[in-house]
Amino acid sequence: MAHEVDVLLHEKRIFDPDDETIERAHVDNWEAELKKGKDLEKYWAEKAEQFEWFQKWDKVLDDTNKPFYKWFVNGKINLAYNAVDRWIETPKRNQVAILYANERGDERKITYYELYRQVNKFANGLKNLGVKKGDRVSMYLPMCPELLISMLACTKIGAIHSVVYSGLSVGAFVERMNDARAKILITADGTFRRGKIIDLKKISDEALLQCHTVETVIVVNHTGNPIEISDLSGREIFYDRFIEGESDEFEAEEMDAEDPLFILYTSGSTGKPKGVLHTTAGYMVGIATTLRDIFDIHDDDLWWCTGDIGWITGHSYVIYAPLLNGTTTLVYEGAPDYPDPGAWWHMVERYGVTKFYTAPTAIRHLMRFGEKYPNIYNLSSLKILGTVGEPINPEAWMWYYKNVGKEKLPIMDTWWQTETGMHLISPLPTTPLKPGSVTKPIPGVEAEVVDEKGNSVPLGKGGFLVIKTPWPAMFRTLYEDEERFINVYWKDYPGFYKAGDMARKDKDGYLWIQGRSDDVLKIAGHRIGTSEVESAFVSHPAVAEAAVIGKSDPVKGQVIKAFLILKEGYQLKTQLIEDLKRHIRYELGPVAVLGELDQVESLPKTRSGKIMRRVLRAREAGEEVGDTSTLEE
Ligand code: WT7
Repeated sequence: MAHEVDVLLHEKRIFDPDDETIERAHVDNWEAELKKGKDLEKYWAEKAEQFEWFQKWDKVLDDTNKPFYKWFVNGKINLAYNAVDRWIETPKRNQVAILYANERGDERKITYYELYRQVNKFANGLKNLGVKKGDRVSMYLPMCPELLISMLACTKIGAIHSVVYSGLSVGAFVERMNDARAKILITADGTFRRGKIIDLKKISDEALLQCHTVETVIVVNHTGNPIEISDLSGREIFYDRFIEGESDEFEAEEMDAEDPLFILYTSGSTGKPKGVLHTTAGYMVGIATTLRDIFDIHDDDLWWCTGDIGWITGHSYVIYAPLLNGTTTLVYEGAPDYPDPGAWWHMVERYGVTKFYTAPTAIRHLMRFGEKYPNIYNLSSLKILGTVGEPINPEAWMWYYKNVGKEKLPIMDTWWQTETGMHLISPLPTTPLKPGSVTKPIPGVEAEVVDEKGNSVPLGKGGFLVIKTPWPAMFRTLYEDEERFINVYWKDYPGFYKAGDMARKDKDGYLWIQGRSDDVLKIAGHRIGTSEVESAFVSHPAVAEAAVIGKSDPVKGQVIKAFLILKEGYQLKTQLIEDLKRHIRYELGPVAVLGELDQVESLPKTRSGKIMRRVLRAREAGEEVGDTSTLEE
């Protein structure tokens, strides 16, 4: 349901790129590059040339069966080969590929050659277990090198990985594992979080009681947290033992351009999480190009994307795109404010990070501690900054620009989604910037703001964001649910992709994203569906019915506000509140941040029984409720 967030387009400041940025940039003329992108097939074909193909494509784009687009038709390629093996014969062989660091100050440096060996050993191990092309393998791991290694090993074999974010808990985990019917699970003894160790093995043990497709569990000894490997299950093995004695050579599987690469679950408006399916060649070309051109990657870069690998940001821009570009990717396990709010700036100084990519919620959080922390550290290695995940308010943009960028560095505000796989709307380093605007679609992409009927809205007016052109890293379907794929994304505006966001365009053609247009919440940049939270609530014995909306929060963007109808005899008192909080945490994990809980007698519903969250939202905001003709009572 659409709800308009009224943001006036009053931001007048414009920041032009400095000479140094322009001089260094791979793409030194933004406008010219946008023109080049008009010839879609030629543009992407040129970008695809950089890779080693087993067999070149016959056609760049096949759009004869919309919305089932195909890219690089009949091309044969392997992503892991291009991300790792390709560099072994070059001077990058001994360059650090993965720089792992954590909040305790530990570090591990893995060169391209070492990564190559580790991936091959793991791939051989998987092969010995009978894992083959098309099989699903799940990971429930912290930000650790073994996560990257196991994902790359799947990619090398052609197995489809399905990573479950380690901040999700039992209920969410079970749902994702069972939908993908994963054969293998890779997990760890724990993850470091603010001086504590969270026992991931325990969560996965509980979840696995409800997942019957898993044949083998591989456990990474990551934290040294003593764990019990159950004697009974007989299906568990430690990671180190698993790869022991395996050969460090493995021939990459020849994958078709359109073969599935991974499934990643994300929340929608209704029902279960959606298994977003990405395929091989288009995804590679899209993410490698956007990282290189938007963050202007050169050989001497040290790239740091703070996003978790359990989300699309990490899949595309912590692992695959940096390695496809042969750069060094910093994988950091830790919070921005632990042991103190200078933790991230300390990392930038310590390693000389050159490109830094994070989320608005982290910036807003760090802003609260003042200007002191970024000023303690030497941040002069930085060249380009970025943000992703939710709209960035101009105040946070300016704080970032001033304190981290020292009023010199461009900020790439990149709009994209789990479904898009790659950045779609973003400046390039040479784009004049306006604080809070994602600027324009990248070269090769066209976007528009439309009304309910699909007509363009006048400049400055809010509307629905659609993408008008296909792009190479687009998801190809929802796993085993083509009907939902069509209904959710392609039905309302035939020929256009419906993004699910509200946006405005200003007189310069710059886009301003205003948030989701559907019942998806954005909590600290993480996507969570109201219906998922509601079903978690009603699975508690005290709750009869639940309705959930987003409540705005100065740091997290949104938190959960729940309206609950309790069963006979229950009152929403301290103990029940605590119990409900625990329950939601158990079912969904720490991503589901509860703001307020209200006990109510009834919920606004349509005659067909659908909860009208729009009414709750309006009431909460103290606004007119609007059209209630469909309201039952
Ligand atoms: C939703 C997608 C893509 C990586 C992380 C999120 C919001 C994303 C921006 C931005 C304003 C943004 C949108 C979008 N979003 N980037 N730069 N400005 N909003 O992926 O979990 O699939 O969420 O995040 O609402 O639809 P995701």
